Order: sequence, then C-alpha cells, then structure tokens
Amino acid sequence: MRSLSGTQLARQLGDWSRTTPGEGGPAYTRVAGAIRLLILDGRVPLDARLPGERDLAAALGVSRTTVTAAYDALRAGGYAVSRQGSGTRAALPPSRSIGSATGGSWAPFGPEGSDLLDLAHAAPEAPAHALRQAYDAALEQLPRHLPTCGYDLYGLPDLRAAIAARYTARGLPTTAGQILVTSGAQHAFSLVLSLVTAPNDRVLVEQPTYPNALDAIRRQGARAVPVPLTAGGWEVDAVAAAVRQTAPRLAYLVPDFHNPTGLLASDDERRGLATSLGRSRTLTVVDESLVELTLAGPPPPPLATYLPADLSVTIGSVSKTLWGGLRVGWLRAEPSLIRRLAAVRASVDISSAVVEQLATTALLASLDELLPGRLTELRSRRDALAGALARRLPGWRVRLPDGGLVLWCDMGQPVSSRLVAAAEHHGIRLAAGPRFGVEGAFEQRLRLPYTYPAEVLERATEQLAQAFATVTAGSGHSEPMVDAFA
Ligand SMILES: Cc1ncc(COP(=O)(O)O)c(C=O)c1O
Repeated sequence: MRSLSGTQLARQLGDWSRTTPGEGGPAYTRVAGAIRLLILDGRVPLDARLPGERDLAAALGVSRTTVTAAYDALRAGGYAVSRQGSGTRAALPPSRSIGSATGGSWAPFGPEGSDLLDLAHAAPEAPAHALRQAYDAALEQLPRHLPTCGYDLYGLPDLRAAIAARYTARGLPTTAGQILVTSGAQHAFSLVLSLVTAPNDRVLVEQPTYPNALDAIRRQGARAVPVPLTAGGWEVDAVAAAVRQTAPRLAYLVPDFHNPTGLLASDDERRGLATSLGRSRTLTVVDESLVELTLAGPPPPPLATYLPADLSVTIGSVSKTLWGGLRVGWLRAEPSLIRRLAAVRASVDISSAVVEQLATTALLASLDELLPGRLTELRSRRDALAGALARRLPGWRVRLPDGGLVLWCDMGQPVSSRLVAAAEHHGIRLAAGPRFGVEGAFEQRLRLPYTYPAEVLERATEQLAQAFATVTAGSGHSEPMVDAFA
C-alpha cells in the first residue's frame, strides 16, 4: 500500500493555510482540513500511509505539535486510523465510505442518501423508452442462452460482431475475434494494465486526463508520465520526447473529446502520435469512450487506423452514448492479444452479464436512430451551461468543446479544492481540478458536466456562483488568465 513522504504530501497540500473554507483558526485545524480534502477528493488514496509527524512538520515548516494535533483531529473525525507498527493511514468515516476497504477511489461519491446535485461525474441519463424496449428484446432472447452455463470470457458472439461492424463502418476493418466484451471501459483499461504492466513501469498519459485511469495506473504500482495537453491540443514533439526519455511500457490516450478538456485530436495529430509511438514500439491504448458524442462534424478516423496493429488497443463503451448502468464496454486488439486479455479476465470476473449484453446488442442495432436526438439535446445543454456561466461567472474562461460531456473551466484563481468543499454547503458536489492531473496540477480548473436539463444547469450555476463568491470573498485576486491547459 502506498506511503507518502512529508515532501510528497506537502506538495499536494500546496497553500494549505488557504485551502479550507472559512480559513482562520489554529494552524493544526487548517492542516487537518487540507488533508481531509485530499482524502475526500481521492488524491490521498484510502489506506495510504501518511508521513511521520516529524517528516511532515519539516516539509510544511510547522512545529511537530501542529502535525500531532492535526493527525489527532483527523483521527477524531474518522479520516485517519493509527495502528501499532503501521503508522497513520488515510481513512473515511463510515458514513462517507463507499463500501471500499480497498480505497483509493474516485471519491467525490458523497455520503449515501445525499441529496447534493452530482456535478462530479459526467454521464447522461438513460434513454428510458429505448432501454425498456431493449430489455424486453433481451428477455425474449434469453431462453436461447439458458441451456448454456452463461459464462463467456469473450462476450456474446452477436454483440462482438455488432461492435466489430461499427469499427468497420468507421473505416477500421474489424472482426468479432478482435473484440473482447468487458464490464465497461474502466474494466477494459484495468485488464490491459494487469496484463502488460509491472510495478514501476511507466505509463504515458495526457495531462490532464481521466482520474480513474490515473488511479488504475497507481493501483497497478505503475507510474504515470504526464505529457501536457495545451489549448492547441496534442504536442507530438512533447510526446516523442517523453517516449525517448522515459521508455513507457504503455501510452494511454483519449483523442476523441478528451476528458476533461473536450479536445479532439486532428488527423495530423493522430498521424504524428501514431508515428512517434509506433517508431518506439510503445503499446498504445486509445480510449474512445466519448467518440460518438460529436456535437459538430464526425471526428477524424480512429487513431488505431494509423498505429501498427500489434501495438494498438482500443477501448470503447456504451456508458456515455447510452447508459453507464449497462456496464458494457469492450477492447479491440489483435486476436492473439485479445486471447491473452481474456485469460486475465478469467481471474477477475470471468464474464459479463448475459441480459445486459443482449440488451446492448439490441440497443446498438438502433443506435443510429437514437443518437441524433440525444446529441441535439446534449448540444442545447452544453450551450445552456456555457450561457449560464457567462452570465453568472463572467470572469471564468470556458472553451466550447465540439463534443463530449464537459466544460473544462478556467476560474482564473487557484481555488478548486476550496470550491469543492464550499459547494457542498450550496447543494452541489464537484470534482476538484487537481483530480485530473498528476501531482496536484489544475487548482485553477473545474470540470463541469452538461448532462442535466437546462433548467437544472441554470440553478446549479447559480449555486456554484454563490459558492465561488464565498471562497474568493475579499481576495481581490485576479490572476492573468493562461491559455494553456497545463
Ligand atoms: C475517458 C473515459 N474512459 C472511461 C470511462 C469509464 O467508462 P465506463 O463506464 O464504460 O467504465 C469514462 C467515464 O467517464 C471516461 O470518461
């Protein structure tokens, strides 16, 4: 399990004296408050060993008594536990825990039963009518499967064929043998990490990137090598340099409506990335979870089109186009790699659920009729959120993405963690910008999903503006806006 040194935690704590809302109070409460935020936010994984008191005191430049009192306060609140011989470890009080003894979660799941509006996750509601019809169709098909044992490591043949056909239609010829059905895209990425990475291997990632991917990399004991995305997009030279300098075992990229920036890699960027990764023989995982959510024209050809076949793994999912609750995703790779991934899968969950696969097969058959209406609605939600932000928070800089589900806002001030804490008192749950970066970057950023109806987004923006006012009151602070995402 992970141990944090004093310097590492101090770096994450940053300007700890200003991190907690309300500020003021003795130093130990501010240190404790700032550590609590990191734990709630998932940036300090559950069960991670906190630094020794002397070590942290030196790194923060405070007295040891201050750190001792801060740890006492964390323990009293249930945010730390100490055991003889294993030091002080990060924890969550029972009501806040999400049933995870293993911890390290993409926390901002709140206390169970919380009625906060969740703006921390970005996933749309289900197409209710189509989903019901798909489950009816699935139940009709089910009797054909009942005489079998119901386990299929690779996924139902009809579903694999339907997924393969969608790739072929996008210009990437694919057979069913190149597809492994998984329980979502996250499961798919974890399988790849389990198969190919060993502790301390490096995994190249965009900075910022999808937090669960970062968590999966860490949990595997591997190390993320961040390559900054700029407002202009992917800097192929920077990727090439990082590959040369760090020889990553794997690259993980989200070129289609990247989460959280919403950026779409151009055809030239795709070719450049593929050339550089292919030349260095780097296995490349392309996460296409959001590729179908285009709010402008069709995206360029899949990145896999340009990668050597034996170095290319593509991840897909219906979570963003249809519904996360289906828990259906997939991997596309060469059949030999698919067989090795399936062998790993045997030790994890053996097989995806049959009824959900049947329902997904039915939904994919009608996806081309379903999607346009969903995208029209999504476009108007995106515009509604951007409009509300422009009215209520005119100092924020927001770029309108051509697809995906989120706005990556530049608030102009490094207050993201404080805003997350304050927002809970205004009825909304947020994910702090630093969740999307390696080593605590993006304190000036906030990711906001436009997955709710316009009137809900209007209201949420009002609440957000109130929370923002509380964390910036009296700061008189207006830093120059920067154009880069990193
Ligand atoms: C880039 C990316 N990959 C993977 C996932 C997880 O998808 P799934 O629900 O299919 O596991 C998400 C969900 O937000 C995502 O944005």
